[in-house]
Amino acid sequence: MLDDSSVHIVVITAPERLDQEWGQRLANQAGFARVDVVGVVQAGLDLVRQAHPTIVIVDRDSEQAEACVRQIFSTVPATMCIAIVPKPDVGALRRLVAAGARDVMVRGAFQYSELLESIRSLLSIEADRRTYALDHRSGSQAAGKGKLVVVFSPKGGVGTTTIATNLAVALRQMSAGRVVLADCSLQFGGAGVQLNIWSKYTIQDLLPRVDEIDDTMLAPVLQQHSSGLQILLAPTSPEAAGDVSTDQIDIILDRLLERNDYVIVDTWSFLDDVVGALLRRANEILVVTTPEVPALRNTKQFLEFARAQNLVEGRLTLVLNRFPSVDNIALQDVQQHLRHQVGANIPSEGRLIAYSINRGVPIVLSHPQSWVGQSLLKLAAHVAGDQVNPLSLTPNNRAAKSPEATEEKERRGLFRFVRREA
Ligand SMILES: Nc1ncnc2c1ncn2[C@@H]1O[C@H](COP(=O)(O)OP(=O)(O)OP(=O)(O)O)[C@@H](O)[C@H]1O
Ligand SMILES: [Mg+2]
Repeated sequence: MLDDSSVHIVVITAPERLDQEWGQRLANQAGFARVDVVGVVQAGLDLVRQAHPTIVIVDRDSEQAEACVRQIFSTVPATMCIAIVPKPDVGALRRLVAAGARDVMVRGAFQYSELLESIRSLLSIEADRRTYALDHRSGSQAAGKGKLVVVFSPKGGVGTTTIATNLAVALRQMSAGRVVLADCSLQFGGAGVQLNIWSKYTIQDLLPRVDEIDDTMLAPVLQQHSSGLQILLAPTSPEAAGDVSTDQIDIILDRLLERNDYVIVDTWSFLDDVVGALLRRANEILVVTTPEVPALRNTKQFLEFARAQNLVEGRLTLVLNRFPSVDNIALQDVQQHLRHQVGANIPSEGRLIAYSINRGVPIVLSHPQSWVGQSLLKLAAHVAGDQVNPLSLTPNNRAAKSPEATEEKERRGLFRFVRREA
């Protein structure tokens, strides 16, 4: 509610009604900062244009009221109008509302308390509007402030890159927002390969002048995927990884987060300084593991370490890849062993995934209806903040197209996913 000491009300009435009861009470008792009662339309409009009051009560006949409200709404739109007219028909009511009246009351048929209630209700709505506008403004300042999602596993080869690439493409598709996938798997990063993207420009080209990164510098370095996703590739030579500092990564992330809704980071399986900094900074962390002893062992160690260091508090979703598994290990057992809830699972579909990776087409594009495709899409919806359960322990009914069926479609030119040569 707006504070009464800042509320200015102007009443535009007729000369013969200047001393009517509700006008007097408003002016003398209600406690608003200022109440002006005028008996001439033009004088009232001049006052409104000059003083920008909070509320104008227009107490004239329907046509005059309509013209008056229209003028106020078009010249001082922040001022709210209440019209008081002789019993209006629906047509007159509609015209008043269309002209900009926020409430309409019937002359002689309302109590003073009802008028006060109408004023209070408008003040409350206005207060909400201002609060929202303020929040929105600070939101868009923080904005550019995209969401940083780090995909990590303490064990190599468990599907981190497969999940990061599919997640990035799925988020791009679902949100139609700006999404970047940054390959911080600094040695042998494979995100580009999984998306069939090749370029000599990589994150390495940003390092010498990180303080000067702008759109012009980013343009050639960010690679475009057909889905609209942009990709920051890992260095082409493995020894370059040693040149990358956490400060540089931090600045690069700042620039990417300013420009994008989501920045998805693929990582390697070492808990080095760069990965530590990424985990600390992430808004959401996906820790990938598989239901096999070596992966579970590393994951357990990592979770214990992360807990002790307060590294990932409340921001971690444990993703169990290749689950359900062939040896029928139970979800309950995995959770008990890790002392952590599994937040999402991705089933094992070796043929489809191999087909997709070898073609450089993420499975959420090539086989979105498959069980694995659906589970990756659900994971993306979860990351985007949707209330979905990203656990999918049984196949969906809509049968996935086999790789052969997809190949047949390709032959018939229905879609083309052709791997480009390096
Ligand atoms: N859900 C799945 N079902 C079957 N195979 C999968 C699944 N997820 C990943 N794979 C396979 O696992 C292999 C490793 O995948 P990926 O490269 O994504 O793992 P990674 O954790 O990023 O590995 P690295 O540590 O080398 O970076 C790939 O050959 C891929 O085909
Ligand atoms: Mg990888």
